[in-house]
Amino acid sequence: MKTHHYYDVLIIGSGAAGLTVALNLTKHCKVAILSKGPIDEGSTKYAQGGIAAVIANTDSIESHIEDTLRTGDGLCDPDIVKFVVTNAKDSISWLVNQGVNFSTEDGKNFHLTREGGHSHRRVLHSTDATGAAIENSLVTMVKKEPVDIFTEYTAINLIKQNERCSGAYALNNLKNTVETFQAKFIVLATGGASKVYLYTTNPDCSSGDGIAMAERVGCKIANMEFNQFHPTCLYHPHAKSFLISEAVRGEGGILLLPNGERFMPKFDALAELAPRDIVARAIDFEMKRLGIDCVYLDISHKSAKFITKHFPNIYKRCLELGIDITKHQIPVVPAAHYTCGGVVVDKHGRTSLSGLYALGETSCTGLHGANRIASNSLLECIVYGKSASEDIKQQLNQTELPPPCAPWNEEQVTDSDEAVVVTHNWGEIRRLMWDYVGIVRTNKRLERAHRRIELLKSEVQEYYSKFKISKNLIELRNLVVVADLIINAATRRKSSCGLHYNLDYKPQPKAQQLKK
Ligand code: FAD
Ligand code: SIN
Repeated sequence: MKTHHYYDVLIIGSGAAGLTVALNLTKHCKVAILSKGPIDEGSTKYAQGGIAAVIANTDSIESHIEDTLRTGDGLCDPDIVKFVVTNAKDSISWLVNQGVNFSTEDGKNFHLTREGGHSHRRVLHSTDATGAAIENSLVTMVKKEPVDIFTEYTAINLIKQNERCSGAYALNNLKNTVETFQAKFIVLATGGASKVYLYTTNPDCSSGDGIAMAERVGCKIANMEFNQFHPTCLYHPHAKSFLISEAVRGEGGILLLPNGERFMPKFDALAELAPRDIVARAIDFEMKRLGIDCVYLDISHKSAKFITKHFPNIYKRCLELGIDITKHQIPVVPAAHYTCGGVVVDKHGRTSLSGLYALGETSCTGLHGANRIASNSLLECIVYGKSASEDIKQQLNQTELPPPCAPWNEEQVTDSDEAVVVTHNWGEIRRLMWDYVGIVRTNKRLERAHRRIELLKSEVQEYYSKFKISKNLIELRNLVVVADLIINAATRRKSSCGLHYNLDYKPQPKAQQLKK
């Protein structure tokens, strides 16, 4: 069996970002895709609300730009916001060409829903399972292409030769062996890092692998303090990470305390449709003030027909758990949802290391600033998937394959005799991040987090240097890096802004621009 592979382009990750770049390249060069689980497993598949684009006559590009900038709290790059928003309509056409079925009003015009921070209805969706519609279509299309797909392969480290990224070592999860992938260009599309928090809407694979790998080869990383918490994750002992889409509030859902009191109007004029950071903080505030486990989301004032038509999957999942959302309130809590920061890239998705691109939730493009507006992330995946592939295409002919690198060396390591270190430290990191670096921070909590992460870093490094690699260990090693990046970024920012809310500083609406 071959264990040293050569391609023109190696794509790590098979969500919306990875598959978009793949589909734009397969006709031009030899492409490999790695994914650490089944091909469709990633945040993309779970996206509910939709994808933002200016479609309605009453809407405008300027308004979408303005809403994005306002939500980003002064830290978006206005040039990038304009670039992404103006490319939204083309991205939608491309998705439709890949077979994505967006919901329509009358079989012809797209139905547009509304989400927090958007001043217009501009969110295209496929009922309440937009991500699955996109992921399934892209997977179907990519399987028809001449591309090598390696599922159950977990990238461990990037390879750097002569100041250029030239590949990655990856664990074959099923055989427990490490293989080498080398390519002219490497694309990191490994998704976000919300798994670093105890409670998250994300699937297990969101452990920030791409961000940690890029950090280890010296790439610029920015804005890691801005982790977005979604206000409404289902609160139920048997529901792991199930989101109740913001579109439920967009279509009239209201948030209530256990005594039935509506509380959002006292926090923001936009009430339930205020940007996510405001809603999440309001819920957190009320939960702490009253000592309650959750708040309630209520859409039962709408007709059952309306609810089941717009939210068939949320209706079905809640019903399985005994909650009929056409009649009952839905118990909800905030949970970590989206990594706004990441690997700093330019308009083509190029990182600061030659040969290496980063796309989708792994990247920090300047679009989201201090807070991502709803439904701009799937859009970012598609826009950058295209711009990166165009940039790669232009360089393919004049770029040589890299020289062979050394194979993975396991001579110094043995089988682990205390795997408990891995499971314990996984849990400890996630809890400390939730308790000390969560929705509301203080300098004291950040100091505590810093002290603990230093210890965890050394323990994990010691374990990594002694014992054979496993998927759990790879993820733990990456989670420590990501946690450290978040804590350091949060400590460095001496203000409250967007998603970074520190009780020791008063919010300052206009902070400095993202520095690249
Ligand atoms: P992902 O889709 O997360 O894919 C990551 C890929 O990388 C996976 O294939 C994974 O296997 C692979 N991978 C990771 N690490 C490794 C490794 N070490 N080696 C090999 N492969 C690896 N955004 C919107 O715009 N609209 C929405 O309505 C919306 N709803 C959401 C609802 C939920 C519940 C969640 C969790 C997110 C939602 N988001 C939404 C955010 C959006 O879905 C994600 O930001 C986006 O899908 C990320 O796409 P991606 O391609 O960057 O990563
Ligand atoms: C949602 O449907 O509430 C998620 C939308 C998003 O994260 O953009």
